Amino acid sequence: MPGHKGKGFLGKFDITEINGADVLYSPSGIILQSENNATSLFNTAHTFYSCEGSTLCIKAMLHLVTKGVKDPVIIATRNSHIAFLNACVLLGIKVVWLYGQRDTLCSIKFDLQELETALLTNPNACGVYLTSPDYLGYISPIKEISKICKNKHISLLVDNAHASYSAFLKDNFHPISLGADLVCDSAHKTLPTLTGGAYLHVSKTCPTNLLDNARNALKLFASTSPSYLILQSLDYTNLYLKNNLDKFNVLADKITKLKLELFNNGYNIISGEPFKIVINISDYGYTKNEFYTHLQKFKIEPEMIENDYSVFMFSTNNTNKDLKTLKKALLTLPKKTKIEKQQLNFVRTKQVLSIRTACLKDSREILVDNAEGSICSQSIVTCPPAIPIIISGELVTKEIIELLKYYDVKTIQVVKN
Ligand SMILES: Cc1ncc(COP(=O)(O)O)c(C=O)c1O
Repeated sequence: MPGHKGKGFLGKFDITEINGADVLYSPSGIILQSENNATSLFNTAHTFYSCEGSTLCIKAMLHLVTKGVKDPVIIATRNSHIAFLNACVLLGIKVVWLYGQRDTLCSIKFDLQELETALLTNPNACGVYLTSPDYLGYISPIKEISKICKNKHISLLVDNAHASYSAFLKDNFHPISLGADLVCDSAHKTLPTLTGGAYLHVSKTCPTNLLDNARNALKLFASTSPSYLILQSLDYTNLYLKNNLDKFNVLADKITKLKLELFNNGYNIISGEPFKIVINISDYGYTKNEFYTHLQKFKIEPEMIENDYSVFMFSTNNTNKDLKTLKKALLTLPKKTKIEKQQLNFVRTKQVLSIRTACLKDSREILVDNAEGSICSQSIVTCPPAIPIIISGELVTKEIIELLKYYDVKTIQVVKN
């Protein structure tokens, strides 16, 4: 193995655990050395490699803080990615949601008081789980949240899939630097890493049992054939970071400047993450199809475009020309009358069955229009951003049906009676 015998496209780099290549889940050679280099760069107790994205790291993080606990509970923000929900199905986790305030699926700003209350009413919770930054670039106050968690001796887990790069800015806002215990990064999203390359960071201050068990937690859910192509790209990323640290602040400054120019030309820019530009397109008078058609003329592919927002994500591999093209595309688009935003009602949902029970039960697909009163079997996300509108085990109500229709969802899998 492998069957391609090193021939063909990328073949010679796609090896397996041959002599000298080390073994990801019991490393003692070059993989361990490479992880140690990543560990120094991110200043962690240890940074573990994943060849299966943040998705694998999320399962591992949740397993680490819930293992051995009967009926584990996690407090999490409602805009969590589907990878979190899938892990909850596998691990039988009950979630206490922080709903916060939101007028969009992707972004939640919650009051610290809401977290304090959730901790008080769920003293047995095993951890707090946040997505920061979120899809629209909102960065949670991790330092303050971490203080609250530490006071309660509860672990803080952060999905930082979108911002590996944050560790290399002068205003370092990487959650691991701000007090989170366990953090996952999709290196492949903002660093020059192949798709699937990710990190599980364990902080220097978290309980040692988390560090001691992290490798096995990853191993439990991972393929026994990790991609050496991805491992090599994670190793290459260390070298890239070491040699190109100056590029991060330079890019952040360029993006800030571009945001300002766009703002001065009438765009409503959602400020937030340094490597994201988030535009409120309905405020600018465009539907998602109109806006996307315009971008296509410039061969620009946004990270995400939905009814109200368009998200652009950058990395230090973007050139000045890329930024110029984006600027030209946006500044040649005339502003039109604002499209009035439909008021969305992100109601608190009613959990009738556990996430796990509902997801594992037999289901049938029905039209959303006919679903009122049914129990959702398979969480529904639109992708991107892969954030659930309704979650397995929740009751379908009129308000949920309205939301599903707003996001163009036509059918839903419901629990079979
Ligand atoms: C917020 C968030 N978390 C987790 C993930 C999963 O990351 P990965 O694709 O690296 O498995 C994604 C992917 O899009 C994401 O956007």
